This record gives sequence, C-alpha cells and structure tokens, in this order.
Amino acid sequence: MRKIGVLTSGGDSPGMNAAVVSVARSAALYGIPLIGIKRGYNGLLRKSANILDDLQELNLETVLDIADQPGTYLRTARCDEFRQAKYREFAMQTLKDMEIDGLVVIGGDGSFNGALELCRMGMPCIGIPGTIDNDLAYSEMSLGFDTAVNVCVDAIRKIRATSRSHDRPAVVEVMGRHCGDIALTAAVSTGSEICVVPEVPWTVEGIAMQLQRHLNKGNYRATIVLAEGCYAAMAPFNLYKFLTSHGKACYPEEPMSAVRFASVMKRMCGGAEARANVIGYVQRGAEPTARDSSFAFEAGNLAVRLLRDGIGNQVIGMHNGRVFYMPIETALKRKKQFNLPMFELVNSL
Ligand code: F6P
Repeated sequence: MRKIGVLTSGGDSPGMNAAVVSVARSAALYGIPLIGIKRGYNGLLRKSANILDDLQELNLETVLDIADQPGTYLRTARCDEFRQAKYREFAMQTLKDMEIDGLVVIGGDGSFNGALELCRMGMPCIGIPGTIDNDLAYSEMSLGFDTAVNVCVDAIRKIRATSRSHDRPAVVEVMGRHCGDIALTAAVSTGSEICVVPEVPWTVEGIAMQLQRHLNKGNYRATIVLAEGCYAAMAPFNLYKFLTSHGKACYPEEPMSAVRFASVMKRMCGGAEARANVIGYVQRGAEPTARDSSFAFEAGNLAVRLLRDGIGNQVIGMHNGRVFYMPIETALKRKKQFNLPMFELVNSL
C-alpha cells in the first residue's frame, strides 16, 4: 500500500470529519501517506484548475482539529459522470498517477455503487456509511443519523412546548429522502402522536381523522411528524380544489407540502390552528453526537487496517453495537426493513 485516498461523497453527514481524522491517524500510525480527494468522485476527475482543489495530501496537523466539526472538510458532491465507464477509467488513471493503492469512500448507497465499480476495475475500496437518512439496509446505523435525530428531537420538544402554550397542533417535516427512519425515531423520542412516512401508504383524510381523535381527547397540541419523502406514498388528493373551496388561495397543480398540509388539517379539523415547521439543513449541519463520533472513530481505523492487510471491496457497518465489515455487493443487495411495529405503536396510542 503506497498511499491511501479518502473521499466524502453524496449529502454531507455529521461524523464525516471524525471518520477522516480517524483514517488520517490510523494511516499515520501504519506509516501510509494519505491523499484527501475533494468533492467526492469529482476530485478524481480533476475538474479544478488548481490540483490542490482536487487532491491534497492530508497530514495529521491539518485535520486533527476538524474531528468534532460539522460538515466535511474534504467537501462533498454528487457526481453523475461517475455512472459512465469513461469517467471511471479517468478516475482510475488519476489514482494510478497519484500512486494510490486503496480508497476509503464515506457516503451512502450511490457512493458505494461508485466504489464497487472501482473495485471491479482493480482498486481496493472500503466504504464507511455516511448519510443522515439511515437507508443502508446492511447496517444498524450510518454516520449522521443519530445527530440528525437528536436535532429533530430538540426542535420538536421546543415546538411542542409552544404548541402546548397555544393549544395548537403542529406539523413538523424532517429529512430522510425515501426513508422514514428519522421521522419515526424523532416521533417516538418526543411522544409525537402521529408519524407519516414514505414506507406506509396514507391518505390526507385518514391523518385528519387521527388528529381529530387527539383533539377530541383534549390533546390540542398533537404533533404530526412528516418524513420529507412521505408525499410519494400519499393517496391522490386534490389540494387546489380542497383549499380554494375552503377560502384559501392555492395554485392549480400545487404539490402538497408541510405548509399546505397544515392548512388542510386546520380546515378538516374544525379550525384547529395547525402550524407547519420544516427543520431542514440544521439536521445535516450539526456537530456529531458521541454515538456518531465513536462510530466514525472505529470505522476509520478499521478501513485503514483492512486496506493495509490487502482486503478491499468491503463496507463497514454496525451490528448489535459492534463494528463489522462485509462485501460491498452483498451489502447493496440487502433490502431495508422499516420498523412497522414501532410505526403502528406511535400512530395507535
Ligand atoms: O441523502 C441525504 C439528504 O440530506 C436527504 O435527507 C435529503 O433528501 C437530500 O440529501 C437533500 O439533498 P440536497 O443536498 O440536494 O438538498
């Protein structure tokens, strides 16, 4: 192993920097020079005028202080070109030119697919799961999920406090793309009454009935946690017709959103002043929790040890609280199991 490369790719996630630092400390311990690749796979495509904007030798002094910082020091990006063989060949040439014999890829499933292609071309790669969405089926956790959930919990508790003061229901939208894990875990952890996710089909009328049930019981601050991808699982609903016939201006063909959903709930539930909150990027830009940082620490070291020992083509994950590794291809074939019993519990109590 002449040199190791490390990159962060896809949406950033809290803990990515901690993983890079762990990789850097481990590489230094084993005497292997480390190259940081900027903006995900884009750095390997050498798009920048200045090579230092694409590839940078990472010495320990440069990165030591970033371990607890949010975001990613290496920058990140999605790289559509990497789906094409000619760009992956270019990337392989860059790796060869730089004398990089092994690569650590920190990202989600798209990034792991890129790593798998590089492995097939002969470059040993190790994946570390870095996505707030927690949508990688093979691992119990991915870097950033715990942090994102804790940001949501903190925000929802505050929202529920002011909702209680005003006896108002709340609608809170959280991130997670096509995965409802952030929404479900945040809903459970805050005692929120209703959770809506992309994994379970739902109707606007059904959620309004659920909300009405809580209002009837005197719980006026009932909270509805929406996963951002939930609208894909929503039964057809004519938002324009409903709102305009209830005295609210609306654009034809306007898509459902948290704000519109709150307006609909208000009109379906006897004028209850439902208010919408979209938590947004604060979930991704937060400082990593201890859980994310410690996973990053262990995963970064294991990634370097594997490459040092000549083992590539693996992803690192967490099972029963222990860090483990398995072949990338096998991991990517796993189908994510949504926690339906927990979901049903939240929505039925
Ligand atoms: O996949 C991570 C994620 O943060 C999702 O939760 C979200 O849907 C998406 O990325 C947002 O992407 P962008 O960075 O393009 O806004």
